Amino acid sequence: MAIELTPLPLPASADPSKFSDFGREVKGINPGSLSEDDFAQLRDALYKHDALLFRDVTLTPEQQYALTKAFDPESESYGHGNNKTQSTKKSILHPDLKTIPRVPQVQLIGNGTVTNHEGLASAALKHPSHTFFHKTHVSEEDSAAGITRFYRWHIDAALYELRPPRVTTLYGITVPNGASQTVRYDDGTGDELSVPLGTTAFVSGHTMFEILPPGLKSLAVRSKVRYAPHPYVWMGAAHAMPTGLGIENEGLELPLDELPSWEASKVMTLPVLWKNPVTGNLHFQVHPCGAAELLVDPLPTGATHEGALYPDGAHIKDLKEVRELLYKMQRPAIAPELVYPHDWKERDLVLFHNRGVLHTVVGAFKPDQVRAFHQCNLAASDSPAGPTDEDVKKYA
Ligand SMILES: [Fe+2]
Repeated sequence: MAIELTPLPLPASADPSKFSDFGREVKGINPGSLSEDDFAQLRDALYKHDALLFRDVTLTPEQQYALTKAFDPESESYGHGNNKTQSTKKSILHPDLKTIPRVPQVQLIGNGTVTNHEGLASAALKHPSHTFFHKTHVSEEDSAAGITRFYRWHIDAALYELRPPRVTTLYGITVPNGASQTVRYDDGTGDELSVPLGTTAFVSGHTMFEILPPGLKSLAVRSKVRYAPHPYVWMGAAHAMPTGLGIENEGLELPLDELPSWEASKVMTLPVLWKNPVTGNLHFQVHPCGAAELLVDPLPTGATHEGALYPDGAHIKDLKEVRELLYKMQRPAIAPELVYPHDWKERDLVLFHNRGVLHTVVGAFKPDQVRAFHQCNLAASDSPAGPTDEDVKKYA
């Protein structure tokens, strides 16, 4: 069958000129049983459009795993590993994930109590709330009036030992209805964004790079990020910025010698920009919360950028400086007009290019608002490719 792609409906807040390539609804094929030709077209569409939506889908955990794995046939384990080791139990992600027993690569996430679900007798799910992670909180009065925050902008990735998944699949099984909420950025800009209840918000990493001024493009194309060992344990006691885009500098990160045992060879050092394997575009793909150091290459010979940052290269280990640089480069791309907040309907299946977008949980549910989603991503068989020599020449 021919694959049919139509643009996703954009909210009034979005700037359509920045979403011409981003997001497509897919019709005409069944994501649960794809021919080789269907899949080749779907793969192409994912890398070109970064987020794909199927409506009214019936999908078993086995089918979801198979679909996710098709993007990286050599991948096998869940993006954060299949086994709940001591270190993953200490991780701040642990309470948010319940594994489907038959298919440990698929996680049940959501809110409220779900019973008799795919082999789980009962699962108490909790939608992550900014009140457990941000340094400052929306007041109870404002929360009751529907004010909320972005929880944590991120890439789905362990960022230690396991390589960042290529794709994440999210399948909405039970989706509560409720009034829309308003994300308040609370960073002095006055920015606000009206969002559907329980939206997943996406921004394009390609746009994040494209809108930077030349000086910051030069820095980005020359930089790599080194993540902390066991980053989700490391940041366990730390608090996030009110935009959910990184950590406040309070010195609350766990000292490296107090982390679960770790090896230098498993620490992740990844380019700031990841090269799209189909379009060749560069996507700014940094998980700001886990970033510990920046490694900046010197300007290449012949580059003449006036006032370029770190022209001779640098190894920046000062956390405050690392975070300030990343925030300066990433904050413009989460402006309200650049965010796609997905309005979940039951049986929506969203596939997103995890190496091309950042995303975040948003909003707050009441305990009786039950939501059940299946999520799958797989630790990749390869590392993301960085900029080519040509890219460096062009942007440095
Ligand atoms: Fe995620």
